[in-house]
Amino acid sequence: MSFLKEINRRRTFGIISHPDAGKTTLTEKLLLFGGAIQEAGAVKSNKIKKGATSDFMEIERQRGISVATSVLAFEYNGVKINILDTPGHKDFAEDTFRTLTAVDSVIVVIDVAKGVEEQTEKLVEVCRMRNIPIIVFINKMDREGKDAFDLLDEIEQKLGLKVVPLSFPIGMGYDFKGIYNIWEKNINLFSGNSRKDIEETIEISDLSSKELDNLVGETAANTLREEIELVKGIYPNFDKGEYLNGNQQPVFFGSALNNFGVRELLDCFIEIAPKPRPKQSEERLVKPDEKKFSGFVFKIHANMDPNHRNRLAFVKIVSGEFKRNTPYLHVRNKKKLKFSSPNAFFAEKKEIVDISYPGDIVGLQDTGSFKIGDTLTEGEILNYKGIPSFSPEHFRYINNADPMKAKQLYKGIDQLMDEGVAQLFTLDFNGRKVIGTVGALQYEVIQYRLEHEYGAKCTYENLNVHKACWIQTENEKSEEFQDFIRVKQRYLARDKQNQLVFLADSLFSLQMSQQKYPSITFHMTSEFE
Ligand code: G4P
Repeated sequence: MSFLKEINRRRTFGIISHPDAGKTTLTEKLLLFGGAIQEAGAVKSNKIKKGATSDFMEIERQRGISVATSVLAFEYNGVKINILDTPGHKDFAEDTFRTLTAVDSVIVVIDVAKGVEEQTEKLVEVCRMRNIPIIVFINKMDREGKDAFDLLDEIEQKLGLKVVPLSFPIGMGYDFKGIYNIWEKNINLFSGNSRKDIEETIEISDLSSKELDNLVGETAANTLREEIELVKGIYPNFDKGEYLNGNQQPVFFGSALNNFGVRELLDCFIEIAPKPRPKQSEERLVKPDEKKFSGFVFKIHANMDPNHRNRLAFVKIVSGEFKRNTPYLHVRNKKKLKFSSPNAFFAEKKEIVDISYPGDIVGLQDTGSFKIGDTLTEGEILNYKGIPSFSPEHFRYINNADPMKAKQLYKGIDQLMDEGVAQLFTLDFNGRKVIGTVGALQYEVIQYRLEHEYGAKCTYENLNVHKACWIQTENEKSEEFQDFIRVKQRYLARDKQNQLVFLADSLFSLQMSQQKYPSITFHMTSEFE
């Protein structure tokens, strides 16, 4: 197959949702359609279960699963689909944000009873900022939930989306009769039998036909007719260009658990979802069909076995072909690296591949040279943008609890930060190290992993920080900036890239500083123009 055909047949996307909305179930059903797995229950959930085990053990269990589910690839109707897994737990939000830099589109799963939940709001906001095309799947239609129109309203208001229903439910919960597919103009009747692999759809080209009454009963048929009229009156027609620009979001209804409405979603997805998209680097826009290879690291996974300290770096291919045993430039280190056993991912297996194409993810064995955000090329100096760090929510001093193991501790901290487990800040005035995390769970993970993988012990000390802000000024020599540096000395730190960060102890102090030093910009993320 030609290079261009290979690119055009790839769809790389992520499924995002609030925990429990049905992301794992939907993923599994998509894999079943692709023939990538044979039975339900094959995809392990990477969610953190609270309960019997302590939190960090649970995270270790989750970490074990997460390599297997990082990329789930399968073929469907000649299309190569790569699903990038995103953890739903809010303490791992940063992982999900980074994964979103590597997808070309997303499917958002919403629970019909719970509606738009907190995690969904945050994740969709990131997608909207990046104009990522979004399809919405409203799940659990076999259960009682919110009225379809109310839910569509809620999605528009809370998520700021412009929805276009491409399917519509006939009843709900106990009365759920099926789905009218506006996109394909047919009806899929619900039998509640999750075992059926192929859904039978009945073509209904004219909703006023008597056939509809025979299928779903007169009352349901009339309601559907009215509702579809309303849909046509309220919502615009679907426009693929608007969807691709992030201005319109098609909506599907279904029940992942019952494998209902999933095929409709998948069939529409492969038709409308974007093929690999160009990506902006600091230097220029890079197109997928360029001959020369380039890609970037969006995730690093450490080996679970402490005796083998190698890691797997996940690289999204942006342009050209990635070939085994070919030297590529690691742009940050200015070193050429060759990879003898790059992994490609298929469902839950990984295999060594000779060649991969834009849109694909390759897993590269790494002994510690990669950091999240690193770029690989055939020689050109390119730095891909768009993997910013966000201000952590929690901040603690990290202290060495075993003076004999200082070296191990610093190496461990360094590597865990490269993996993106947390962020490290070094205070300017006394050199003390501060760990910032999105969730409190990560402190346990870091302590546990430092001990088990690096033989180092640490303790923490609380530190009162409201937000970390990255500082930017036009003129470092200005009186204003020098005054800021002097007055705020105790609150200034460096991140791992040696960028200056202000650790504001309260919202008030941040606002006062913004007022007092108007020439300084306080950024909430580490990447800015
Ligand atoms: P997540 O990955 O988004 O966190 O959600 P997951 O797929 O694990 O689904 C969460 C729960 O919702 C699961 O039940 C799952 O079976 C159920 N579920 C998913 N889709 C549907 C659906 O269409 N209808 C109904 N009624 N339930 C659905 P659980 O009891 O928490 O887990 P399990 O024991 O079934 O695995």
